[in-house]
Amino acid sequence: MSVSIRPMRGAFAGEVSGLDITKPIGAADVAAIEAGMNVHAVLVFRDQPLTDEQQIAFTVNFGELENYQSPGHIRRRDEHRLGPGIADFSNLDRHGKIMSAEDRVWFFKLGDRLWHSDSSFRPAPAKYSLLSGRVIPSWGANTEFADMRAAYDALDARTKAEIANLICEHSLIYSREAIGFVDLTAEEIAGFAPVRHPLVRRHPVTGRSSLFLSAHAGAIVGWTVPEARMFLRDLTEHATQREFVYSHVWKPGDLVMWDNRATMHRARRFDHSEVRDVRRTTLAGDPPLVATAHVA
Ligand SMILES: [Fe+2]
Repeated sequence: MSVSIRPMRGAFAGEVSGLDITKPIGAADVAAIEAGMNVHAVLVFRDQPLTDEQQIAFTVNFGELENYQSPGHIRRRDEHRLGPGIADFSNLDRHGKIMSAEDRVWFFKLGDRLWHSDSSFRPAPAKYSLLSGRVIPSWGANTEFADMRAAYDALDARTKAEIANLICEHSLIYSREAIGFVDLTAEEIAGFAPVRHPLVRRHPVTGRSSLFLSAHAGAIVGWTVPEARMFLRDLTEHATQREFVYSHVWKPGDLVMWDNRATMHRARRFDHSEVRDVRRTTLAGDPPLVATAHVA
């Protein structure tokens, strides 16, 4: 059986079938998945009970793992539950127990419930992220994806012209501040220094323009902060209308792969007394290309 990719009903995402990704895959399948990503930007693989090693092996078919020295979190390496190369998006501590709801690491994780693009707070934001569902709570915990290409296309010409050359500042400080988590140490604040990215970016393969929004974006160069925050909030509201959103309902064994250069996503609530064990591998991207598409 060969790989096939079908659009999911009523959504921009695609569903992949005919492939066992727990085993090594061939160049033709890698190319088919890349092509599917360029169309759908989000692909769902069902019934893939991956180990961490298998997830990493599948991921590196599509690029190099992110490997930063600078922090993307507030947890030290020796406090991690999982090995290198795989990020822990569970509600478990390093001993495998459900984290206290008062734990500042948990506060930090709650920021992922805001719409964002992975690593937009880094000079070279992420290419693909791959999230593997290992243990799924009985209620909630969907991951939602918004298509930033369609959101850009749907803007009126005046707005497209206004945003064409805008530059945003992204930092973990902004996204955590948005949920009231401001209790960061001086060292954390220094480590989360803002980076600048264009608000409209061009996809390096498809050439499509998209809105590069993220909860990490908290300023627009040359604008006052209140004006910038309101405008970014307005754009985010536009970009996350239901018509642009796919909501993934997890089953254990699902792997969802998304292109951070064309989408935003957010985690949804679940019952914190239940375990959610989801694990992410992330591919390094390049600094965003500035969109040069004509303004209609
Ligand atoms: Fe994320």
